[in-house]
Amino acid sequence: MITTSAPGKVILFGEHAVVYGEPALVCAIDKRVYIHASKVPSGLKIISGKSKDFRYVKKAVELVFEHAGKKCGLDIKIDSELPPASGLGSSAAVSVATILAVSELLGAKLSKAEIAKLGHKAELEVQGAASPTDTAISTFGGVLFIQPKKKYQRINAALPLVVGYTGVERSTKILVQNVRSLKEKFPEIVNPIIRDIGKITRKAKRRLENNEDVGELMDINHGLLCALGVSTEKLNELVYAARKAGAKGAKLTGAGGGGCMIACVPKNAEKVARAIEACGCTALRAPISKEGARVEKHAI
Ligand code: MEV
Repeated sequence: MITTSAPGKVILFGEHAVVYGEPALVCAIDKRVYIHASKVPSGLKIISGKSKDFRYVKKAVELVFEHAGKKCGLDIKIDSELPPASGLGSSAAVSVATILAVSELLGAKLSKAEIAKLGHKAELEVQGAASPTDTAISTFGGVLFIQPKKKYQRINAALPLVVGYTGVERSTKILVQNVRSLKEKFPEIVNPIIRDIGKITRKAKRRLENNEDVGELMDINHGLLCALGVSTEKLNELVYAARKAGAKGAKLTGAGGGGCMIACVPKNAEKVARAIEACGCTALRAPISKEGARVEKHAI
């Protein structure tokens, strides 16, 4: 029996634009998905307290079997500290932790790069479209500057964040499709917005590396995500409430359509958290998780 875990994430800058080759800045958070897996004579049994969506686990198992060139029966239990479909990367964390667990049980040692690659493939096959952002950060942890098709760059940043969760579940796949439709309908308008989000992300990286404030860049990034149609009234309410309570900047995080927003809170963290709760939502403190996917326990 083995227990593995992988962290969730918040996207600091660049969601949606990263699907079209622009960079994203993303950080792993100290909330994890745990996978408990045992070898059994045959079959695949999956149980979970929170979500009944087992597509990512099944796909992850299938990809490891294919990669390792061998199979086994499995009992898998999922324990998650992340709300499902919330924009905090629970599906990526489930995929990555499952890949690590099953590969260890099969004795097929995978490098972190291989785990991230298989995780991305699982998301692509389940969702149809996905950038490598969520699965890379869940595998490697810390803060990463991700440029599709280039090497990921680790950033040394300590960004104090409060996360506001609307409680509204949404589908990344549908939100990515909606942006694609808007881009196809008005390419001359939407393409420059996507490129501008890329510029904001590059600028934010340089400022974070120099320990400079990125609050205004968060606000501009949120405005452009609104223009892409992925924000909601509730997300906007939380963003404005957080700014009014003293956040340096605030934006939605992840695919939008519900899910979560983040506020940058070098000061006033408690006040911002209370302002989010006063809107009927959940405030989470989200310290950065330096560690990515890991084996928690392996009993032979
Ligand atoms: C989802 O966490 C982030 C998106 O950019 C989709 C992706 O990168 O695959 C909306």
